[in-house]
Amino acid sequence: MANKKILLCLAHMSGNEMRYIEEAFADNWVVPLGPNVNGFEADLEQFVGQDKHVVALSAGTAAVHLALNAVGVGPGDEVICQSFTFCASCNPIKYLGATPVLVDSEASTWNIHPELLEEAIKDRIARTGKAPKAIVPVYLYGMPAMIDDIMAVANRYGIPVIEDAAEGFGSRYRGQVCGTFGKYGVLSFNGNKMITTSGGGALICPDADAKREIMFYATQAREAYPYYQHEHIGYNYRMSNICAGIGRGQMTIADEHIRHHKHVAKLYQDAFASVPGITFHANPDDRFDSNYWLCTIVLNPELRVKGQDQAYNRTISTAIGGAGSTVHAAKSAHTLCEPNANVEAMRLALEAQCIESRPLWKPMHMQPVYADAPAYTNGVSEELFRTGLCLPSGPWVTDQDVQLIIDTIKQNIE
Ligand SMILES: Cc1ncc(COP(=O)(O)O)c(C=O)c1O
Repeated sequence: MANKKILLCLAHMSGNEMRYIEEAFADNWVVPLGPNVNGFEADLEQFVGQDKHVVALSAGTAAVHLALNAVGVGPGDEVICQSFTFCASCNPIKYLGATPVLVDSEASTWNIHPELLEEAIKDRIARTGKAPKAIVPVYLYGMPAMIDDIMAVANRYGIPVIEDAAEGFGSRYRGQVCGTFGKYGVLSFNGNKMITTSGGGALICPDADAKREIMFYATQAREAYPYYQHEHIGYNYRMSNICAGIGRGQMTIADEHIRHHKHVAKLYQDAFASVPGITFHANPDDRFDSNYWLCTIVLNPELRVKGQDQAYNRTISTAIGGAGSTVHAAKSAHTLCEPNANVEAMRLALEAQCIESRPLWKPMHMQPVYADAPAYTNGVSEELFRTGLCLPSGPWVTDQDVQLIIDTIKQNIE
């Protein structure tokens, strides 16, 4: 094949992004406010519905941070977070001096297990004498969580829910957009997400007052005096008017992008249905409508993949946070918990064909940095981490690419 690399998911500027950027330049709106920010927020509010109000921010991580801040999380508090997630769901809990309490997943959606969640809440109350300050469920890879059950548990204990829909833009549960069930909903527009603003995020808020409060903290908590007066600690988290211009353009093709991800998912799902030892992660039933931001498969541990006996025989150098210019060499070829050798061998086989794939996210309770966090586990996310692989899914991925990926996987099964 040619040298084109088939990537997991990468920004695709197929809307009228340039028009909005040119307008911003022409009017000198090159600041973190302006017509594109307002327009993008209005577009997002229309998209998510439910009379929600949206604040555009510099990152999804900033949205998690501001939502936790808004529900009053501070030193000495505990916050429940889905363990099977990317670190950005969890790290802002630490930024605020609070303690993450990590809860494992259920096997059908891979998201937080509602019964284990309730067990964790009861146990935290018994141990600490107070309820966790917030619950952060995640829509991992775009798959809706069992949000009705999660909300029922949260409401029983009066705990606010901050839905991390960074990966779930446009996913729906019972027809309602993910991110609109809880008190706050987090979106990400990083370069690898369903739509992008190059880097950026947004917070879905319950009402206009909450939106005003979030905007206040996102702009350094400046009091309304003619001089700088600060009575709270704020953050510099607003989205720039240039990035918001990209976002407005992306909104014109958001539905098309989501349709494409679902189309790619269907191709994988149909193809893997007849491949023993490989299971495609699909909507569990018709309540769930995943955006299939990333398509994922699980490899049976018994499946033999060519080269698996040598799979880990090299030290891996990874880029910090995907920033290619800053490389942080791995200390050793192994960690205490890693994907099975057949998964690593499959990843390498795909890489040899210029196809990017990636193991499923390593759960937070297995990350050295969260070794001390209380965790309520059931083995589900650990097993998924050991056996799963994310496959290219984004708007650049063609039907021919999917065929090559499927063929490569089949050819590498022994
Ligand atoms: C589950 C999850 N939460 C939060 C984030 C943070 O988003 P951002 O990269 O925009 O800060 C990401 C993505 O990076 C994510 O995958």
